[in-house]
Amino acid sequence: MQLYTADATVLETFEKVSEMSFRLQPPAPARPNRCQLFGPGSNTKLFEKMAASAADVINIDLEDSVAPSDKDVARENTIQAINDVDWGNKYLSVRINGLDTPFWYRDVVDLLEKAGDRLDQIMIPKAGCAEDIYAVDALVTAIEAAKGRSKRISFEAIIESAAGIAHVEAIAAASPRMQALSLGAADFAASMGMSTTGIGGTQENYYMIREGEKYWSDPWHWAQTAIVAACRTHGLLPVDGPFGDFSDDDGFRAQALRSATLGMVGKWAIHPKQIALANEVFTPTTEAVQEAREILQAMEEAKARGEGATTYKGRLVDIASIKQAEVIVKQAEMIEAM
Ligand code: COA
Ligand code: MG
Repeated sequence: MQLYTADATVLETFEKVSEMSFRLQPPAPARPNRCQLFGPGSNTKLFEKMAASAADVINIDLEDSVAPSDKDVARENTIQAINDVDWGNKYLSVRINGLDTPFWYRDVVDLLEKAGDRLDQIMIPKAGCAEDIYAVDALVTAIEAAKGRSKRISFEAIIESAAGIAHVEAIAAASPRMQALSLGAADFAASMGMSTTGIGGTQENYYMIREGEKYWSDPWHWAQTAIVAACRTHGLLPVDGPFGDFSDDDGFRAQALRSATLGMVGKWAIHPKQIALANEVFTPTTEAVQEAREILQAMEEAKARGEGATTYKGRLVDIASIKQAEVIVKQAEMIEAM
């Protein structure tokens, strides 16, 4: 399918798109991103364990899990690990320091000059406006050209401030390098002035009362939905960030299930315990895939009868159901193909 300008020149070609408006919705990168495992660049003993894990994406951190006095050594460790460790088929990402620090430019320069082509992605924290992405893009682009790097580095940004969520759509659209956006719950809560110290999950004071009973609601819902909308508009992967209490499996699962329901494709793990939980939630179940295939089959049969809508298990399915079912089937096929 193709997108045209008014004078009929082809702007972009899409393999498969949803026809939501005259401007077609671009697909997100076709790679699994169910779990992003983090580890501090200062903790070298974790690198081999991260590489051997079941996470789809590895994020070596140079930012907030590294003390200011360790920034230089963490950067050197990280470059050495990118070059020496066997990362298998993992998508390999490094979180650089924020643009409000004196560290970030050195992170970018050293990574691009000294790390080999095994590096896939740079993660930009605390993105507040499109110009933050532009600044990193300009530096990365110059170094790639100067050093003759053949592989183009992709970007992921973290939405974790009031400015980030206010400008989320512009950030998503800021560079063709952009592949994903994550919600960073802790910094987001701080920036918004939210009254909580929890990193994601249920917040004790966020409830409604009905007939004397408390019903807890989800304070992250709006930010997540805004991120999903920006990502889907611009063909990026929407990702849920950290869940701090790694002793609470049920809490992690509940948060991840809500994120998946809202359209997110994965979640961070800040402890290895959380990897299997994320993979479980963000891999479509056999039953869900089976049902999606049956819906597609029912719609094929309806189409053969010249109908646009039919009944499946006592409920309406129509042409929109084909698109919903295809989301699940395509996700399952992509994971199977790994
Ligand atoms: N990746 C891979 N392996 C990890 C790991 C990680 N992020 N965190 C811990 N492990 C390993 C430990 O080395 C240990 O291995 P062993 O059984 O071979 O000794 C095992 O998992 C159990 O670890 P545990 O003792 O429960 O945790 P810890 O006290 O060593 O570390 C944290 C706890 C939270 C400090 C650590 O998990 C961590 O640094 N997480 C990432 C933090 C981060 O990157 N934050 C930035 C994003 S918000
Ligand atoms: Mg943060």
